[in-house]
Amino acid sequence: MQSTATTERGPVAIIGAGLIGRAWAIVFARAGHPVRLHDMDRHTMQASHAYIEARLHELADFDLLTDAPHTVLARITCVPDLAVALRGVVLAQENVRETVEAKIEIFQRMDTLAPKEAILASSTSWLPASEFTNDLPGRARCLVAHPTNPPYLIPLVELCPAPWTAADVMIRAHTLYSAAGQSPVVLSREIHGFLLNRVQAAVLNECFKLHEDGLASAEDIDRVLKDGLALRWSFMGPFETIDLNAPAGVADYAARYGQQNRAAVDSEHAFSWSESAVDRVHQERRRALELEGIALRSAWRDKRLMALAAHKRQAPDC
Ligand SMILES: NC(=O)c1ccc[n+]([C@@H]2O[C@H](COP(=O)([O-])OP(=O)(O)OC[C@H]3O[C@@H](n4cnc5c(N)ncnc54)[C@H](O)[C@@H]3O)[C@@H](O)[C@H]2O)c1
Repeated sequence: MQSTATTERGPVAIIGAGLIGRAWAIVFARAGHPVRLHDMDRHTMQASHAYIEARLHELADFDLLTDAPHTVLARITCVPDLAVALRGVVLAQENVRETVEAKIEIFQRMDTLAPKEAILASSTSWLPASEFTNDLPGRARCLVAHPTNPPYLIPLVELCPAPWTAADVMIRAHTLYSAAGQSPVVLSREIHGFLLNRVQAAVLNECFKLHEDGLASAEDIDRVLKDGLALRWSFMGPFETIDLNAPAGVADYAARYGQQNRAAVDSEHAFSWSESAVDRVHQERRRALELEGIALRSAWRDKRLMALAAHKRQAPDC
């Protein structure tokens, strides 16, 4: 999408300061926006401040911040009053829990309180904006902007319009997220799961099927990605990958391997997500990592992502 609008560095409201909201606060404050962080739970808001400060120091350690951590942190204000949080904003990024009812309620309030020209975006992972913006007078300025966790390390943001989202809102949103260092992709229309979760669902479907059929352990199936496919996928997509895997590109790849790919998919049927099959993978994972270790391992994952982000920053074509 061509971005013609000028870059806006105005105030951004982050509504809901849980896992995703506090991560978005880092993205926009790092890019120079004043950020108003709002949550209905004061304790969550206070806890998010310490959380953000710790992440900013980690980012600085990996040379992923242009400004000093205290400068970025000073741009973030915790605001308990929603009306105050939304005053004069260019964007309100909603991150409350994932139910249609919760989204309808908060979007009604955001549409009433935010300036008329402000963009209202939802971080929803699965819900199309048409399900919670239909009755709003300002529905033309609403869209989904679905991040990947955590957005300050994984830049993809999926911009998905409702049928009534204005074209200029999509362009302004694209400009704003790009200028904040994100990597926006634009859907032409609504679809369940947008792009990322559909691709992930297809991969998970096959991985669970292979495990259920006893073809390999969960550890080895994970290894297929981490020591195989995903090494290339961290800097090129599956289309570019096959384009390079046959001397004459995608068409050549399809002529050589298209029918084999087709046969592999034809033999597949959808994984049921049955409790017993999921439990077998869960138990294998618990032998590798006890539940108590998940937080520590997640922190380790984020440090690896920071190292990868620092590497990709030095190789901008990635
Ligand atoms: N967790 C992920 O990996 C992930 C990734 C991408 C998108 N998302 C989406 O982001 C959204 C938030 O997910 P999360 O994981 O951060 O959830 P979370 O439970 O960690 O945080 C939700 C926060 O919203 C607050 N809240 C709820 N209702 C509110 C209201 N009316 N006003 C103000 N604050 C309110 C809660 O107090 C809570 O702190 C969901 O729509 C989710 O689908 C999550």
